[in-house]
Amino acid sequence: MQAYHVADSSGLIKLDAMENPYTFPAVLKEQWLAELKQLELNRYPNPQAAELKKIFQQAFSLSPKLELMFGNGSDELIQLLVMAIAKPNASILTVTPSFSMYKLIAEYVGVNVVEVPLQQDCFALQMDMLEKEIHEHQPAVIFLACPNNPTGTLWSHDQVEEIIKQATGLVVIDEAYSPFAAYSMMSLVERYPHALMMRTVSKMGLAGLRLGWMLGDGQWMDELNKIRLPYNINALTQASATIALQNITVFDQQAKQICQQREVLSNALHAIDNIKVFPSEANFILFKVLSGTADSVYQNLLDNKIIIKNVSNNDLLENCLRVTVGTEEENQAFIRALSSAFS
Ligand SMILES: Cc1ncc(COP(=O)(O)O)c(C=O)c1O
Repeated sequence: MQAYHVADSSGLIKLDAMENPYTFPAVLKEQWLAELKQLELNRYPNPQAAELKKIFQQAFSLSPKLELMFGNGSDELIQLLVMAIAKPNASILTVTPSFSMYKLIAEYVGVNVVEVPLQQDCFALQMDMLEKEIHEHQPAVIFLACPNNPTGTLWSHDQVEEIIKQATGLVVIDEAYSPFAAYSMMSLVERYPHALMMRTVSKMGLAGLRLGWMLGDGQWMDELNKIRLPYNINALTQASATIALQNITVFDQQAKQICQQREVLSNALHAIDNIKVFPSEANFILFKVLSGTADSVYQNLLDNKIIIKNVSNNDLLENCLRVTVGTEEENQAFIRALSSAFS
């Protein structure tokens, strides 16, 4: 195995990790610091993050029938889910290309991974193949990122519902990019007890807090709680997320701004010859280099002090790069450097 590699981005315009480019407004920062001052760091944090759960239920109008659980980023929730089902011959199913953590965690926990390729060039779900693989392998968990990373695709409600109906185990709908997507699959989680919703505060503007959340039937949450470490959400994160969620409109507004910038960035990319741009429902855009290679374009951008993500190591993503939507100035700098790479 190799450790998960995070590229060094010091001194660079950072458009590689789907972070929100905006920080807390000054007023909110004052409120936040005042709250942090009162924390007693000599004490362990609340083991269930009980107050934070209430704030989440209000901020996202969550169904009172469903239970919440937090993780140190959704990465930890994925790890908990995979550890919970790990036994000889157990498998998870995911599509490819998709978020790499599903596969990585399953591999290091020793769980089989069934990967169903997306359709070439449009990244649609191959429903027949999915149904066949579900019946053959009976995966204990199916992970579906909606919208998908790194393609930006948002599958239809009907297709996701069909997968839930076919599933013989859990279906985890990972809505990490929900702040930027046209619709959510939340109603499916309310209707099907074996469907769980996973989200994170990372993409909405709080990546540094490391806080993911999962929502689903209480019986599943009780089981997962048995293997969750008791104080997995630290006191600083609990207090900071409370302040942030009490001011959720600030983050909704930032998400709107990012969606507007996504449109501007996508139009600018379309105007450049030699690349193919894919539609996105997330805060990033996938594009394919049609003349030259993704490696050389990536390096060219790095030479211009801009870092994006080279995702061309997947068969279906040959010569593809993924750029995160940044501020207007960052996006313009990126477009200038990209255009010059082709001139
Ligand atoms: C689809 C998807 N799910 C989950 C995550 C991880 O989020 P977190 O920062 O909460 O661990 C990512 C991060 O890029 C992602 O793309």
